[in-house]
Amino acid sequence: MQQKWGVTARQFGIIFLVFGLTGTTTALLTRYITAWLGMDTDTYWLWKLLLRIGMLLLGYQFILLLYGALLGQWAFFWKYEKKLLQKLGIVRRTKQIAVFASGAGSNAEKIILYFKNHPSIKVKLVVCNKPGAGVISIAQNQGIPVLLIERDPFFRGDSYLPYLKEQGINFIVLAGFLWKIPDALVAAYPKKILNIHPALLPDYGGKGMYGIRVHEAVIAAGVKESGISIHLVDEHFDEGEIIFQAKCTIGENETPQSLAEKVHKLEHRHYPEIVEKWIQAGRV
Ligand code: GRF
Repeated sequence: MQQKWGVTARQFGIIFLVFGLTGTTTALLTRYITAWLGMDTDTYWLWKLLLRIGMLLLGYQFILLLYGALLGQWAFFWKYEKKLLQKLGIVRRTKQIAVFASGAGSNAEKIILYFKNHPSIKVKLVVCNKPGAGVISIAQNQGIPVLLIERDPFFRGDSYLPYLKEQGINFIVLAGFLWKIPDALVAAYPKKILNIHPALLPDYGGKGMYGIRVHEAVIAAGVKESGISIHLVDEHFDEGEIIFQAKCTIGENETPQSLAEKVHKLEHRHYPEIVEKWIQAGRV
């Protein structure tokens, strides 16, 4: 249990003491309240039962928090209570996102700001593979912790998994993350990893197709439209199920740079909203 709760042996002891004290205090209080209300053996059994249930459901939980706080374990018991309330359906379960980004992080920033005061979705973590990337300072300015990952452990597949699970990450959103997601991570988050691609997939995607190269390829193909694709991530580069696309036209004198700007605007407008719908409904 100590391992499951992720606490030290000392904390574990205190936690047990808190449970013990709470149980005894609740029982004593119930006895006093019963006497104070004048309840005795003649009182209708239902009233006594209701009082006991009330004390267990409410009194016990408050006393638990009180002892927890007094003995320096507020964080543990507050988490415990929140879980209980979520299980009872009284409080909505917060869905937690890790945003993976390697670059400037403009999409990551839009997503962080969009969910800043969201009632049930939270950006819990930014994962980055490039020291000094713009996204790191964006995350820090917004008070979001950054996990800087290294190539070898990442490609081994599941090295960062325990950390992501421990942080309670439910969904992964890629926003300009250039490394391929290892199969072990895809398997650990099935249909729970989303990516955005700056073109209309299935065209102009795959390995090596990122940044300005995508827009150069689109213009070279002489097509009239480009856009964005938001898709689930599977074991293959840019091949997972597409859940959303938005288009923009390509002008006569369009350059890869001007197209990149248009596409970026589309990304900023749609990505956070699509992430929200996907998380809330499991689909768009
Ligand atoms: C975006 O164009 C996105 O489509 C691609 O990477 C780029 C990230 O840009 N996957 P930014 O770092 O969010 O500005």
